[in-house]
Amino acid sequence: MANLTPKDIVSELNKYIIGQNKAKRAVAVALRNRWRRRQVPDDLRDEIAPKNIIMMGPTGVGKTEIARRLSRLAQSPFLKVEASKFTEVGYVGRDVESMVRDLTEIAVNMVKAEESDKVHEKAQKNAEERILDLLLPSRRDDVSPPVTVADGHQEDLQISPSTREKLRQLLKAGKLDDREVELETSFRTMPVIEVLSASGMEEMEFNLKEMFGNLFPQKTKKQRLKIPQALEILAQEESQRLIDMDRVTRLAKERVEESGIIFLDEIDKITGRESYSGPDVSREGVQRDLLPIVEGTTVTTKYGMVKTDHILFIAAGAFHASKPSDLIPELQGRFPIRVELDSLGKEEFIRILQEPRNALVKQYRALMETEGLILVFDGEAVEEIAKIAEIVNERTENIGARRLYTIMERLLDEISFDAPEMEGKEVVISRDYVKKKLQDVITDEDLSRYIL
Ligand SMILES: Nc1ncnc2c1ncn2[C@@H]1O[C@H](COP(=O)(O)OP(=O)(O)OP(=O)(O)O)[C@@H](O)[C@H]1O
Ligand SMILES: [Mg+2]
Repeated sequence: MANLTPKDIVSELNKYIIGQNKAKRAVAVALRNRWRRRQVPDDLRDEIAPKNIIMMGPTGVGKTEIARRLSRLAQSPFLKVEASKFTEVGYVGRDVESMVRDLTEIAVNMVKAEESDKVHEKAQKNAEERILDLLLPSRRDDVSPPVTVADGHQEDLQISPSTREKLRQLLKAGKLDDREVELETSFRTMPVIEVLSASGMEEMEFNLKEMFGNLFPQKTKKQRLKIPQALEILAQEESQRLIDMDRVTRLAKERVEESGIIFLDEIDKITGRESYSGPDVSREGVQRDLLPIVEGTTVTTKYGMVKTDHILFIAAGAFHASKPSDLIPELQGRFPIRVELDSLGKEEFIRILQEPRNALVKQYRALMETEGLILVFDGEAVEEIAKIAEIVNERTENIGARRLYTIMERLLDEISFDAPEMEGKEVVISRDYVKKKLQDVITDEDLSRYIL
């Protein structure tokens, strides 16, 4: 993992997220603090509590986006879960430990993908050889050497190395794509078992799979396949063979433990300390279950034991009806970094529309370009869109920057439909066009509720 300084992190986040400077700084510090804590000598490290973070703010202002971008630039395994999904251990529902298992699964897939990238070329080559083996009736190594004729040239016998070479050329050039080969593919016959996802059940499910996997040995099936398809299957098989799964597991576990990030959304939904009867009791229970994981414990996963000490937790919530101080004190202490996100208005929308790497204006321009249509937004049009977004957010419901998605889609619905017939044209979106397209919808509040 790159050891980004807080400043580096903020400037990376700036490429995607507008404003929210406090939140950017806070996540940057949280990430850096984890790195610092890992550098501290063992005995003292255990004394230093993890510095997790709570982001508070209305919907659609960038909470999830910040966390997601952070994980990308840290190249960390990242899991987003809704805290409200969990139930206390012993109740029906997902137990909190499952998030560590899920995160480990994500890390395994991540490492597996990287490792298979590394062996890709070799796997491809091996697959090619196997196709050649299938195409040629016998293997090259048990072929008698080609006969040398008088003029010194080697005679092409039916199955000679040069035949194999020629065939290889044809294969590479795609000239054999229409031919079929018979392939033996292996698969396990596996009865489909559905297990209710009660707590701990996922664990059981895979144990069953492993058990049955051994009970029902691999079966093979002969299939006739076109060569490109066969190549693909064989390359996958080869790649599986070339990847060292023990290594994958080891690296994945390491990565979860050292750099995993869990984004706990809707943390405000599990607040509540008073023991009312009913769901609140288990809400506090969830908090109690969460505590050891956040503090650092060991969770059993199918890849082995995973330590959670250095997993970074980023919690987020709207906190309309509750406050972080409604969490149990122990948990509050584990989330010492608090940050509020600002709600977004016209000025931010103007920038969000144009500036981020993935800005909507850029997205639509690229989409239309595929049709040969040049889409230009003039500055006033962008301002008008931003203004409308703000107005609709005020009048109906404030959904933050998400409003821009619905407005843009509505604004461009005709152009999106007609684009294929407009090849070679340039369309300028002006303030007037924006007004014309959206006026009716804005003035009629009911309409805007449904459409925007
Ligand atoms: N400050 C911002 N800069 C750029 N884009 C933003 C910003 N805030 C929100 N967006 C855009 O709006 C979308 C929704 O934001 P996000 O998912 O971060 O909302 P959220 O704050 O997590 O809301 P919720 O509480 O509903 O989960 C993002 O995908 C992003 O494209
Ligand atoms: Mg979110």
